[in-house]
Amino acid sequence: MKERSSFTGGMGFVIASAGSAVGLGNLWRFPYLAAQYGGGIFIFVYIILALTFGFALMTTEIAIGRKTKLSPIAAYKTLDKRFGFLGYIAAIVPAVILPYYCVIGGWVLKYMTVFIAGDGTAAAGDSFFGEFVGGTASPLTFFAVFLIATTLIIILGVEKGIEKVSKILMPLLILMTIGISIYIFTIPGAGEGLKYYLLPDFSKFSLKTICAAMGQMFFSMSLAMGIMITYGSYAKDEISLTKSTNQIEIFDTIVALLAGLMVVPAVYIFSGEAGLESSGAGLMFITLPKVFAQMAAGKIIGALFFILVLFAALTSSISIMEAVVSMIMDKLKLSRKMSALLVLVWAVILGVPSSLGNGPWASIKLLGMDFLTFFDFLSNSVLMPLVALFTCILVGWVVGTDTIVGEATKNGERLGRKTLYEVIIKYIAPVLLVVILVFYTLAQFGIIKY
Ligand code: PFF
Repeated sequence: MKERSSFTGGMGFVIASAGSAVGLGNLWRFPYLAAQYGGGIFIFVYIILALTFGFALMTTEIAIGRKTKLSPIAAYKTLDKRFGFLGYIAAIVPAVILPYYCVIGGWVLKYMTVFIAGDGTAAAGDSFFGEFVGGTASPLTFFAVFLIATTLIIILGVEKGIEKVSKILMPLLILMTIGISIYIFTIPGAGEGLKYYLLPDFSKFSLKTICAAMGQMFFSMSLAMGIMITYGSYAKDEISLTKSTNQIEIFDTIVALLAGLMVVPAVYIFSGEAGLESSGAGLMFITLPKVFAQMAAGKIIGALFFILVLFAALTSSISIMEAVVSMIMDKLKLSRKMSALLVLVWAVILGVPSSLGNGPWASIKLLGMDFLTFFDFLSNSVLMPLVALFTCILVGWVVGTDTIVGEATKNGERLGRKTLYEVIIKYIAPVLLVVILVFYTLAQFGIIKY
């Protein structure tokens, strides 16, 4: 059997997984969901889910990977023959995400070029974002460049180089995020925004909050899509799985919280409550240029910021594409290059409508959603909960949690939340996931109000 490549040490594994986890999910998706779903209450639910369910699922996936040393499809099948299908659903998830992820990556690229060209003030205009994403040629061009860059990195096999650079850039991004947040607090009116972001208002709590927070958690931590199984399969037997899981989970959550801190209170300052309610996928792109426009060296800071975000987005898009490419290589026995080109074509087919759905094709709706929203919904709210549900059933009721706990603690580690882990995987998570899936289905068919 071919020797599997492996990460050098515990740190190599954590950094690679964090590179996949930290991306547009933290910087773009988390803040706008937090703004949309009631601020503090969303944060509260998210943190609880991340520390319980997120931790349990991440431990499970990494342990499955390290134990079987196999790719997701084969790994699920090895654990139980009847669960081979799960690998296929898991494999579809990154294929659905990649196209629209590259559309958003294109938006970041656009803003980076605008700021580098010194036009940052124009980007602060009220209609700038809407006019850009509502266009045809411009957003499609930026999408194409981002997608081609990702594909080239995959074909040339230079991911390692990119990851090395991002190891330096990632801490810089975090420092900048903190710096920008601190600056925002000096603007009058920031206090109200901060309160909105941090204090949970339980009257805004609903099943919808949990649904949104859970989908976000899967997306942000790269869970329920086979990625962590793949990464786990590269992890050395000696490393502490429990420690690594904690580090990835905590790091990913901190970056998301910081990104929200930078974006959500600023919405309050510039557009008040109304801005929060009407905020959507463009939130980060609409608010931040306004913040930069007020800063003394805003143009340079803005340019630097979008360069860093671009890197975070690239390390994630690489891992999304790699997941799909390696699966195609395995299954269809194609070369790396051919597989990458196939995936590129696929990403164009789904990416073009995702981009045009914000403009010329806005009238075309799938279940009432534009293309991008639909693909986001399909992956985060349908496919990932399904994969998570079957993973819980497989581990909790077929294989047994002992197998996973055994793998996670085989170097004598303690699984700090062991009982919690078992209760979550066997009972809490499956029930919650079924409730969510039923709720979504009923809501989509108009049987209950959403
Ligand atoms: N977790 C990444 C983010 O937060 O941006 C997104 C992502 C990475 C999704 C890898 C899917 C994936 F397979």
